[in-house]
Amino acid sequence: MELLAAPLQGFTDYVWRNAHSTVFAGNVSCYYAPFLRIEKGAFRNKDLRDIAPENNTAGTFVPQVIACPAEQFALLIDKTASMGYRSIDINMGCPFPPLVKRHCGAGILSYPNEVSKLLDIAKKFNGIDFSIKMRLGVACPDEWETLMPIIAGFDPIHVTLHPRTAMQQYSGNIDLEQFSNFYAAASFPVVYNGDITTNADIGNIAAKYPQLRAIMAGRGLLANPALNTDNLQYTDEICLLENLHNLLLEQYRMHLCGDAHLLAKMKSLWEYFLAGRGSRKCRKKIMKSSTIEKYRLAVEEFWQSLADIGSGIIPGQQPLA
Ligand SMILES: Cc1cc2nc3c(=O)[nH]c(=O)nc-3n(C[C@H](O)[C@H](O)[C@H](O)COP(=O)(O)O)c2cc1C
Repeated sequence: MELLAAPLQGFTDYVWRNAHSTVFAGNVSCYYAPFLRIEKGAFRNKDLRDIAPENNTAGTFVPQVIACPAEQFALLIDKTASMGYRSIDINMGCPFPPLVKRHCGAGILSYPNEVSKLLDIAKKFNGIDFSIKMRLGVACPDEWETLMPIIAGFDPIHVTLHPRTAMQQYSGNIDLEQFSNFYAAASFPVVYNGDITTNADIGNIAAKYPQLRAIMAGRGLLANPALNTDNLQYTDEICLLENLHNLLLEQYRMHLCGDAHLLAKMKSLWEYFLAGRGSRKCRKKIMKSSTIEKYRLAVEEFWQSLADIGSGIIPGQQPLA
């Protein structure tokens, strides 16, 4: 089953996407960029840098635009297409309440007429393959039912469904029953997204839904970047993870201004990176480090704790992948 990398604002920027596809080449067939939006009437330079073709040097990636008021939506697609992209993902899944209130992201799901209007705008852009990333609804898990004929008429190359409502944000139970209903009713290819953390999860979803186009992983891939690797020995896995970390450190050092920014960026990576693995004491040390030198030492100790777990010196986890 193909694995797609989900977009996560603040985490899966081009540095991360390039580094991951370099170290874990072939594990992920396509990386999705966090959404492009218009803020205070303008594109954010940071967002444009993130999707600039010259920055996306490794792996295949698809830019994403957020569903938003019609005139802004046309500008977002126009800008993305003008950068040479012929595949664009439309975000109808972001549950951030200020956006939802303005009928942006997942907020549009309660308004079928607005969905219809936005998709009509997209249709006017000839030669672009559109996919959609969405949730079940805003408050009710069956809101998608009203949207199904509109989406089918749009003929997307696929729809990624995260089977939660916007109100649930990223917690609470995944609604697999509603996912099954959506999957059965869809006349277009469907991608599953939600709470995939291990190869066993990928196998279970693939077995349950044999016609799936692909599986998309977000937080689970940040936590377990070796996801979707077959038969990986523990020591090899740790070595690859260390390579990924070191490449990220080196690349962020080149792209960010000064050690304070670098330290903040690397610490934010550890919000998900290898969560639940290695020594908790070392993790705390990493998060508390006040200089890059202290950070490097804490990370060294962390790798040692993983090695000790692998050789049985500390009882603990087995490889996740
Ligand atoms: C911090 C954060 C930022 C996110 N940013 C985006 C985004 O820009 N575009 C998008 O479609 N989804 C975004 N998502 C949602 C993820 O792509 C994904 O759908 C969600 O995390 C559920 O999948 P997972 O359980 O595999 O993480 C974000 C999620 C988080 C936690």
